[in-house]
Amino acid sequence: MCGIVGYLGKGNAQESLVDGLRRLEYRGYDSAGVAFHEGGEFSLSRETGRVENLANALRGSGSSSSLGIAHTRWATHGSVTVSNTHPHQSHDGKFVLVHNGVIENYGTLKRFLEGKGMSFASETDSEVLCNLIAYHYSELPEDEDRFIDAVRLALPKCRGAYGIAVLCLDYPDVMIGARRGSPLVVGLGEDANFIASDASAFVGRAKEAVFLNDGELAILDKGGFRITTLEGQDAQAVTHPLDQILEEVELGDFDSYMEKEIYEQPAALENTLRGRFGDDGTTAKLGGLEGHEDVLRDLDRIIFVACGTARHACMVGEYMIERLARVPVEVEHASEFRYRNSPKAGKSLVIAVSQSGETLDTLEAVREAKTKGLLTLGMTNVVGSSLARETDGGVYQRVGPEIGVASTKAFSSQVCLSAMLGLALGRMRDLSPMDGQAIVEALNGLPDLVSKVLQQGEQIRELAVKYSKAEHLLFLGRQSLYPVALEGALKLKEISYAHAEGYPAAELKHGPIALISPECPSVFVVEGNDLSSKTIANMQEVKARKGPVLAIAPENIEIPDQAADDVFRLPEAHEVIRPILANLPLQLFAYHFARLRGLDVDKPRNLAKSVTVE
Ligand code: AGP
Ligand code: GLU
Repeated sequence: MCGIVGYLGKGNAQESLVDGLRRLEYRGYDSAGVAFHEGGEFSLSRETGRVENLANALRGSGSSSSLGIAHTRWATHGSVTVSNTHPHQSHDGKFVLVHNGVIENYGTLKRFLEGKGMSFASETDSEVLCNLIAYHYSELPEDEDRFIDAVRLALPKCRGAYGIAVLCLDYPDVMIGARRGSPLVVGLGEDANFIASDASAFVGRAKEAVFLNDGELAILDKGGFRITTLEGQDAQAVTHPLDQILEEVELGDFDSYMEKEIYEQPAALENTLRGRFGDDGTTAKLGGLEGHEDVLRDLDRIIFVACGTARHACMVGEYMIERLARVPVEVEHASEFRYRNSPKAGKSLVIAVSQSGETLDTLEAVREAKTKGLLTLGMTNVVGSSLARETDGGVYQRVGPEIGVASTKAFSSQVCLSAMLGLALGRMRDLSPMDGQAIVEALNGLPDLVSKVLQQGEQIRELAVKYSKAEHLLFLGRQSLYPVALEGALKLKEISYAHAEGYPAAELKHGPIALISPECPSVFVVEGNDLSSKTIANMQEVKARKGPVLAIAPENIEIPDQAADDVFRLPEAHEVIRPILANLPLQLFAYHFARLRGLDVDKPRNLAKSVTVE
């Protein structure tokens, strides 16, 4: 969580930093601040609320500094106040620091530093780290490495996770970054270099990026940059061209990133699919799985680990892979898997799914799986992310940056890739060429069908108007549409704050039916096969108890008038792509529902895009 950006260059730092914070705001938006090295001192500006508040406060201040660090916060330690806003300054004024993460032993460290006579201006763990660096600095003799050495001495004393950028008053040309657990990337431009928690902060200003590994330090100065380990050994700096383009991170004509990302799904899915089918048109060819064919052919079990929306995509994957490849699949909350003593039964493969590739619980689940000697594969959208680097292989989603906190296009691409994985594993086993070919054709037709559904956006808006007074809603579906129901409920609650629950449709009778009333609408996602009659029976049970029913159903399934108040129609489609199509109206429903309540869909309360703490 939180966004960090630092600038060291020839130009004016302020514009780049505020711009960078705007792009990083999706990572946390409790408060924002900036510190410049200017005229032999640090000048700090910090505001609670959105980055725009900080931008307004800075307007007219006219800083000409070319060295600065900035932060947008997702509070973990201490409430949302100006004094808890980053950057934090050390007690002696010599250091400023921005931090992403949690210093778990900050209490012990704080007591130690208080014993040395230091006082603290905030309730944060981050200020403790800033003062710990200042303490070590004060103990070191004057020499050219004193700043670096102080950072190197302080960090090993911290337990927990950090991504930091830090400046020292005595070093007007140096910026140091370090990471453990939280992401950090160096951006290399012509006139300036950057440190940031993700590359979108400097897209358009830097040409290349270097992703730091855990336990590494980046030292930027006027002469360039170098990467070392905490112990001081030179580390390899692998540069990646920044092929992200500015339009991908700009809003364009849309009001929100969520709306933009929903509507760009046809093109996004085309990218996910492009070039990923075998020449005979009967199977999927996923480059990141190459070299692992022997293991994939001989699997006893797949364990998916993920959080939130990504976990719902895995649950759809569970139905698909078991159906197409007949391999047993389990889906675990990454946060549970990492602490659970899961038996190492047979030949298991762990697949970790994460849009950001930085979700700490998911990364820890991967680390736990590796400790157990399991092969790990990653499915992520972010090139160079920790997940991409820490797994043994994997696939990229290729849908471009997802900035709206509510995940939309990433879910669709994860489900699409799960179907492709099911297809590839199926063709290694019993799936016939004919069945394989039908799936390839269905997947190739997906972008057009997605466009077709999205063109009916206005109808969904009208339905959202009709139901937007509801404070409680149920989402119900069967089989691979059960996770879609879960996802529909999650989307609605996270951006509209209405209470929504997802259930398998048949579970209704086992408890949730007690909630049915004229004030509690039920949204049913109906299958395109024989099971639909069972779901329609569940709809009638709700109607019999005066509960309003909105059905999302394929064109070929007849819905009796008495079973639903409203029906939104989906095109007929192959079963492997139905979950993606059925989820689209639910994305739009949540979007309009929240907008009608006047809410900011991109920055829902209490949430942040990338959860880099436990
Ligand atoms: C999605 O709408 C949520 N904001 C959240 O559940 C998210 O999917 C989850 O935190 C996992 O993120 P990741 O895919 O980046 O790992
Ligand atoms: N733990 C720090 C704080 O509460 C940093 C949180 C963040 O990552 O934004 O201020």
